[in-house]
Amino acid sequence: MKIKILTLFPKMYDGFLNESIIKRAIDKNICEIEIIDFRKYSKDKSHHVDDTPCGGGAGMVLKCDILDDAINDNKSDKTYKILVTPQGRVFNQSIANSLKEKEEIMLVCGHYEGFDERIRMFVDDEISIGDYVLTGGEIPSMVIADSVIRLIDNAINKESASDDSFSNGLLEYPQYTRPISYKGMDVPEVLLNGNHKLIREYRLKESLRKTYERRPDLLKDRKLAKEEGKLLKEIMEEIK
Ligand code: ADE
Repeated sequence: MKIKILTLFPKMYDGFLNESIIKRAIDKNICEIEIIDFRKYSKDKSHHVDDTPCGGGAGMVLKCDILDDAINDNKSDKTYKILVTPQGRVFNQSIANSLKEKEEIMLVCGHYEGFDERIRMFVDDEISIGDYVLTGGEIPSMVIADSVIRLIDNAINKESASDDSFSNGLLEYPQYTRPISYKGMDVPEVLLNGNHKLIREYRLKESLRKTYERRPDLLKDRKLAKEEGKLLKEIMEEIK
C-alpha cells in the first residue's frame, strides 16, 4: 500500500515516520509513505497558498488551484483521494478496514482557518477524526494512516489485530501480566490455569461486559451469536 500525504508542514511527520511500528512497516516495505509539501505548487514568488475570503471575514482560505495542481501532479488512476476535514464522515474501524483494501490513498491536509469549497470537487472522500477542531489535518492524517497501516498483513502480530477493540465489533477484554498480585488486586484465576476453553469463554464474556457497560451503542445493532446472548444474559443477572 502507498500513502501520499499533501501538507504544508512536512516536518510534523518526522517522529511519526521514524519510530516504532510505522518505521518498521516502512523498513520492511509493507507500506510506502510519501510526504508532499504542496507549498511548492504556489504560483507567486512569496509562495503563498492562501488568500482572503471572498465576501470578507476573518482569516485566510486555502486556494483551490494550488491544491488541484498538487493533487493532479501526485495522483494516479489508482489513487483514492481523501480530504481530511472536521466536516467529513466520522472515522471508525470499519472505514479503516475499507481503506486497507486500497492500493494507494492520498490524504489532503488543510491548515489555517479553512479551504476553498471547490477543493471538495477534486477528492473521492472526506474524513473527520471526531467532533472537535484541530489546528490542521496533519494529526488526523497520522491517525488515519496509523490505523490503516497496522491492519496490513505482517505490520503487527496477526492475533493482536484480531483481538483489538472494535475488530469484532466489541471492546477488547481485560489483559493482565505479572505480578499476579499487586496492591491487593489479583489476576483472575481462570487466566492462570491453562484451560484454553475457559479462557476463551472468560474473554468473550468480559469483552461483552465492557462493551455493555461502556459502549452499549455498539451492541444495539449487533446480531448476537447464541453463546454471546447467553453470556450477556448472565452479565445482566450479575449486574442486577
Ligand atoms: N482538521 C481539523 N480538525 C479536524 C478533525 N477533527 N478531523 C479531521 N481534520 C481536521
